[in-house]
Amino acid sequence: MQPEIIRIHKPGPKHRTTYYTTMVINLSEQHSLVSNWVAELRDTEIQVDRMRFRRNLERIGEVAAYEISKLLAWEEREITTPLGTSPSKMLKDQPVLATILRAGLPLHQGLLNYFDRADNAFISAYRKHHRDGTFEISLDYVSCPSLENRVVIVADPMLATGSSLVKTIQYLRDEGKPSEIHIVCAIACTVGIEYVHRSEPKVKIWCGAIDDELTAKGYIVPGLGDAGDLAYGTKQQM
Ligand code: URA
Repeated sequence: MQPEIIRIHKPGPKHRTTYYTTMVINLSEQHSLVSNWVAELRDTEIQVDRMRFRRNLERIGEVAAYEISKLLAWEEREITTPLGTSPSKMLKDQPVLATILRAGLPLHQGLLNYFDRADNAFISAYRKHHRDGTFEISLDYVSCPSLENRVVIVADPMLATGSSLVKTIQYLRDEGKPSEIHIVCAIACTVGIEYVHRSEPKVKIWCGAIDDELTAKGYIVPGLGDAGDLAYGTKQQM
């Protein structure tokens, strides 16, 4: 699937259309198994099965890895087989797979299943909620290799406001200057896409679906609910 500039229809009196010049690749635009997996992630009857929920995220990560791999640098290698030699193409450099804990883990595992020699980075970014209903993004723990001149793929299942992703990417930039940054998510919200686009215009976004609405608390509508809770159970901390 080739990346392309996509057109998003926003609900409203005139059904405004936004054109993005950033790369947004909706993996279920041409219907495929990804559409099925996203539907299952959303479905209240199916999402109670946590193992299936995690696996569906993982499968989206696997497809995203496959599609992203088409854009990476490849090199010629002469491979020795039991019967001769074969001129072959091999991935030139391994990417760095970065995950926002904890909800990003299943998607990260899917990417890692395919980029199985990749280096990895883990970031704990969470929403610190205030009594007035607002929240700020707090970054606590970061474990990261050098990102200098590396392709970085950041996994976060829900691109909602985009604030945790942008904060994470800005933080990662202190670890070296990546050659490319990709975001992989299951569902992206138009508001979040716009925010990422304004803050990080060169980042490519790969998603399983695009939704138009966001609640005041930053949940995507129709979305799927809280991806971290559905994958791993509810937590005490807000
Ligand atoms: N995070 C989630 O888990 N779900 C949303 O809808 C938004 C952010």
